[in-house]
Amino acid sequence: MTHRVSVRPSGVELEVLDGEDLFTAARRLGYRWPTVCGGKGTCRICFVRVEEGAENCSPVGPLEREGIESLRRPVDGSTRLACRLLVEGPVTVTKSGVRRRVQE
Ligand code: FES
Repeated sequence: MTHRVSVRPSGVELEVLDGEDLFTAARRLGYRWPTVCGGKGTCRICFVRVEEGAENCSPVGPLEREGIESLRRPVDGSTRLACRLLVEGPVTVTKSGVRRRVQE
């Protein structure tokens, strides 16, 4: 089973698998997603703003909570780390810099 995640402003649409985090799904589907740590939950560069479908998002765990709180920007309940975010239904997020990887 997959769940549709729409990414603004690029308009990218991702089909995320059950149990798969958003960051991993984007990479699997051939998209570049801003990161330094590669999905370990430590760089916080993957953060997104959840615009719609917050009820379909997984609860925030301790590592993610710590990461969100240390972001040097105003955050609210809609800020999540893509590499820790699982979804159970349609979600729309805002994240700049998400684009298809250039094939080499
Ligand atoms: S990719 Fe580094 S914290 Fe998510």
